[in-house]
Amino acid sequence: MNIIQAKDYKEMGQIAAKKIMEQVNAKPESVLGLATGSTPEGLYEEIIQAHKDDNVSFKDVTTFNLDEYVGLDKDNHQSYYYYMHHLLFNHIDINGGQVNLPNGDALDLQEECNRYEKAIKQADGIDIQILGIGLNGHIGFNEPGTPFSMQTHIVDLDESTRQANARFFDSIDDVPLQAITMGIDTIMQSKQIILIVSGLQKAEALKQLVNGPVTEDFPASILQKHANVTIIADQDALSKLS
Ligand code: F6R
Repeated sequence: MNIIQAKDYKEMGQIAAKKIMEQVNAKPESVLGLATGSTPEGLYEEIIQAHKDDNVSFKDVTTFNLDEYVGLDKDNHQSYYYYMHHLLFNHIDINGGQVNLPNGDALDLQEECNRYEKAIKQADGIDIQILGIGLNGHIGFNEPGTPFSMQTHIVDLDESTRQANARFFDSIDDVPLQAITMGIDTIMQSKQIILIVSGLQKAEALKQLVNGPVTEDFPASILQKHANVTIIADQDALSKLS
């Protein structure tokens, strides 16, 4: 694993954005895997700025998001569909038809998982997957205990994950109980992975990811087995690594 130290959250986003821009400029029809949450917000701001400065075009890019809550429609401000359009897609020249998120409002959720997994394969896989990490080691919404062999699937969210994400909702009761997520196997098939990590509260998780055993009890530990992972982390997040 290649670890890049950023001085702070802003620089973490800048370094990650530069890598995305290099990828897209080298291969305009790149397939990007994207994440939501607090960590990538700065990265998306940097990408929007680079696009405005004419440094990069996304018109031939295809995207697949990691996950989506079950039961929130697209107009719901807490849906990842809304997040991605609001914080990135509406501000760049990406073709709306090439944007993909799991549909957490589908009538048949299992069929939706199968469709999503197939769509990633039909696009010839993901060139760069952006990941954040949960305090319990989740990546996507693959909670501790998820078999490494899983592909896109429906997941019951951990109580700790619902608590952590409650800050985006009016109350914890509004946080959905389930989500659709790419599986660990789906994520591991990405050609390159960039994990971004910021803040003291993530320091323990990052330490476990880098130095701990590879175990389904800490899903992100599987990244030790991927051939092309770059971790971009700020000083606070790296503070527990020797
Ligand atoms: C988001 C996702 C999650 C987050 C993780 C960290 O699409 O899949 O795994 O990356 O929960 O979230 P933040 O960045 O809010 O700390």
